[in-house]
Amino acid sequence: YLQEYEFSQENRDFISSLPTEKGWIANHLHQYQGFWHATRHMQGVLASQKHFQALDTDILLVSTPKSGTTWLKAVLFALVKRVHYPDPQQHPLLTNNPHVLVPFLELDVYIEKQVPDLTCLAPPRLFSTHLPYVSLPDSVKNSACKVVYLCRDPKDTFVSLWHFANKLRAKSRGTISLEEAFDKFCKGVSLGGPFWDHVLGYWKESLERPEKVMFFKFEEMKEEPTLHLRRLAEFLGCPFSPEEETQGVADDILRLCSFDNLSNLDVNQSGKLSSGEENSTFFRKGEVGDWMNYLTDEMVERLDCINEEKLQGSGLKF
Ligand code: A3P
Repeated sequence: YLQEYEFSQENRDFISSLPTEKGWIANHLHQYQGFWHATRHMQGVLASQKHFQALDTDILLVSTPKSGTTWLKAVLFALVKRVHYPDPQQHPLLTNNPHVLVPFLELDVYIEKQVPDLTCLAPPRLFSTHLPYVSLPDSVKNSACKVVYLCRDPKDTFVSLWHFANKLRAKSRGTISLEEAFDKFCKGVSLGGPFWDHVLGYWKESLERPEKVMFFKFEEMKEEPTLHLRRLAEFLGCPFSPEEETQGVADDILRLCSFDNLSNLDVNQSGKLSSGEENSTFFRKGEVGDWMNYLTDEMVERLDCINEEKLQGSGLKF
């Protein structure tokens, strides 16, 4: 199956030497540096590590898949580039999916064999990634570039991922049952999994280097969006001025990036990403606690046990 992909021979040999599992979210998942990646992304993972040169002014949004990346991409873009787009009727988010404005290193920027030239992009450059901390390009760790990390309660993350997986699966493969997907997720065999190791890697870093890594949860953003947007603006060195506070700029950003607004735009209802996913697949419900409609008591108990075991002593809770 590796022949289907345009990999260099070196990468092909390397990928075939990695532990591989039949995937549920992708046809195959490969374990690299302790984490699972889809075949299609491996080229980009390796190329990002090799070629990406972070600048001190860069901002990197890191997230676990299905934690609200699309939302935070929109918020980050609207926040950081606000001086460039003062006219709300002409805002790029009205005609571009957030994934186009803030591309993934491993899924967009470095997905092709050709290495792109990123030096002409205006600072601050905004990128995103699902890479775990251990796999971040060295230049990200060693420069002053800022890392914004987003995760979400694993129960909702899983339910969102399961829906996403079924939307993306080829019709010929049929749907994947909730039970089978759940078992794999719990065992860590999931995009960017094990989920808990991903989260803990960044949690620890955010405690050790708070000026470098800011840690966010989807649930916190939902509950107190204005507070967290202000926190984000300060962390990124672009706090709201007193005039902006009076004008209600923070609320304007949140309104522009709200689930209702973004999901109803033409571009997000009928557009497609260059990677083939329909933009609409990134907008489902956008709520906290939808897991209650899907998970059985046994599943909840199993996830609670894993949370307890993996997170104990870390100070992190879901
Ligand atoms: P649900 O499947 O629970 O609805 P990601 O962007 O990391 O792929 O995550 C997708 C999840 O974020 C989906 O969750 C999606 O509905 C939700 N989402 C997308 N845009 C959002 C927004 N503007 N506000 C809140 N949630 C949003």
